Amino acid sequence: MKRMTKAVVPVAGLGTRFLPATKALPKEMLPVVDKPAIQYVVEEAVRAGLDDVLMVTGRNKNALENHFDRATELEATLISKGDTQKLAKVEESTILGEIHYMRQGDPRGLGHAVHRAKRHVGQEPFAVLLGDDLIHENDRLLDRMIEVNAEKHTCVVALMEVDPSQTHMYGIATVEGTGDDDVVVVKDLVEKPDPDEAPSNLAVIGRYVLEPEVFPTIEHTAPGRGGEIQLTDALATMARDPRQRVHGVVFRGRRFDTGDKLSYIKAIIELAFEREDLGDELRIWLKEQLGN
Ligand code: UTP
Repeated sequence: MKRMTKAVVPVAGLGTRFLPATKALPKEMLPVVDKPAIQYVVEEAVRAGLDDVLMVTGRNKNALENHFDRATELEATLISKGDTQKLAKVEESTILGEIHYMRQGDPRGLGHAVHRAKRHVGQEPFAVLLGDDLIHENDRLLDRMIEVNAEKHTCVVALMEVDPSQTHMYGIATVEGTGDDDVVVVKDLVEKPDPDEAPSNLAVIGRYVLEPEVFPTIEHTAPGRGGEIQLTDALATMARDPRQRVHGVVFRGRRFDTGDKLSYIKAIIELAFEREDLGDELRIWLKEQLGN
């Protein structure tokens, strides 16, 4: 069987929750410790064997393109100084697979952004990784989703239990168990329901493995919540169709939504704790702060 190689990373959202930082910079370029969020996401895709990455971009895409390109002047300066450590840091984002870019045009929603990838993807299953959602590198969510797709030949979404008060921030799934503890059949999906209308507390997070049949489904999906073409609505149509079906992988690892301010700050602290060069001092400082 052919190995999956393609990842689509939509990065065309307006990032209004992070204004004014996102006025001239895509939110995916905000650093988490010392690396832009988007680099963690591309590294995750490449680790899972997806080395053909298509970014669907919006305004301010230059910063993204520059980040994954060579920086010859900077590299030459670091070479002349003999600073090989910093040179390696500059170069690490330029050797990550093959990265393609296309514009979304109008930001008409995540479903619309994914649909822009139709020609690039062709007739193969592919992954979608949201550029502002980080999965801890020790947790192999994407590998598991690719495995489930290869077995079931359906679209696969990543699901995570959230606090019932947070359902209005996510697509929420109605599910049925399978023989596997971490795999469910998704019977239906609803986009951002109020807590009293949510069918469960299983939320769709920013990783998807999709079959190419998703494209015609998106084409027949009317604008939904917020007037946007929602990927969740297209997947709900597929979930309700017994000929297509959708599966979910229930993720119990660590995930950070860097598009949300509090979660972004938590990501920085948690990942900095794990760093040899920062963790100890940060712990001491934080204890002092909490003691006051
Ligand atoms: P969000 O719901 O987080 O929206 O998008 P947003 O506009 O980026 O952020 P806020 O709410 O204004 O702060 C989820 C993902 O879908 C992408 C975003 O880049 C993000 O990765 N997206 C969303 C697009 O690529 N295009 C769109 O039209 C909408």
